[in-house]
Amino acid sequence: MQFDQTLLTCLREARHVVVFTGAGVSAESGIATFRDALSGLWSRFDPMQLATPEAFEDDPELVWGWYESRRMQVLGTSPNPGHRAIAELAKRVTQLTLVTQNVDDLHERAGSANVLHLHGSLHQPRCSRCAESFQMPLAPPAEPAEGRRLAPPRCAHCGGEVRPGVVWFGESLPVDALEAAFAAAAGCDLLLSVGTSGVVYPAAQLPHIALQAGAAVVHVNPEPQALGGGREWLLAGPAGEVLPALLAAAWR
Ligand code: OAD
Repeated sequence: MQFDQTLLTCLREARHVVVFTGAGVSAESGIATFRDALSGLWSRFDPMQLATPEAFEDDPELVWGWYESRRMQVLGTSPNPGHRAIAELAKRVTQLTLVTQNVDDLHERAGSANVLHLHGSLHQPRCSRCAESFQMPLAPPAEPAEGRRLAPPRCAHCGGEVRPGVVWFGESLPVDALEAAFAAAAGCDLLLSVGTSGVVYPAAQLPHIALQAGAAVVHVNPEPQALGGGREWLLAGPAGEVLPALLAAAWR
């Protein structure tokens, strides 16, 4: 794989790198993205029936069962070379901030620390009434197939229904994580945007913030991306191949 020398120098000399990831970074671990045609979750399921507070109110068993099936799927997968390359990059640059839209824990399992989860986590459910966090049992009672209903557990504190710890459409993002991500994008020298369609705001603002602040922006994606100018690159290909090759080329 060939890389632009200016880009390699930029990466090697960056004082602060932001890595911004989406579902594509976990695709090679076997986790479906949202918007890829045919395989994407939102081409097979209606987000309005599964990913809004109203959906959970209307049919908590459908929503809880669907998120539990996704959590079980994630527990059965492993980080891929893309996740591992990002953890490795953090050791090579002075400062790295990892911001993800993903609700899996594959970055952490690959060795990344202090990951900013903008859209919450499948592994941190909480009470829908009092927001008390809920400790999931290590082994689930049953493995729900996609779409199977499952009654949500009850909160030990107030008896309310426990809900998935993810951000749904119409909900605010966690303020601390979002502010930290925006500040990192505004102060970085280079932002690597990996495996995201960049259509869900406010998360999708991050590459624009970095560009406006004069940073270089590098997209890693098998699909073509609209590029703004000289400080923006596309590395076309799957993250699990492109990222290890990029590190090897930059620090050969
Ligand atoms: P999308 O499904 O919208 O986009 C996934 C992107 O990954 C696409 O641009 C693909 O071309 C790319 N891709 C696929 N395979 C890849 C690979 N092996 N390597 C690199 N890139 C690959 O997923 P997100 O952008 O993450 O929100 O979606 C953003 C948000 O929309 C999600 O966080 C979720 C969803 O609704 C919430 O859950 C709140």
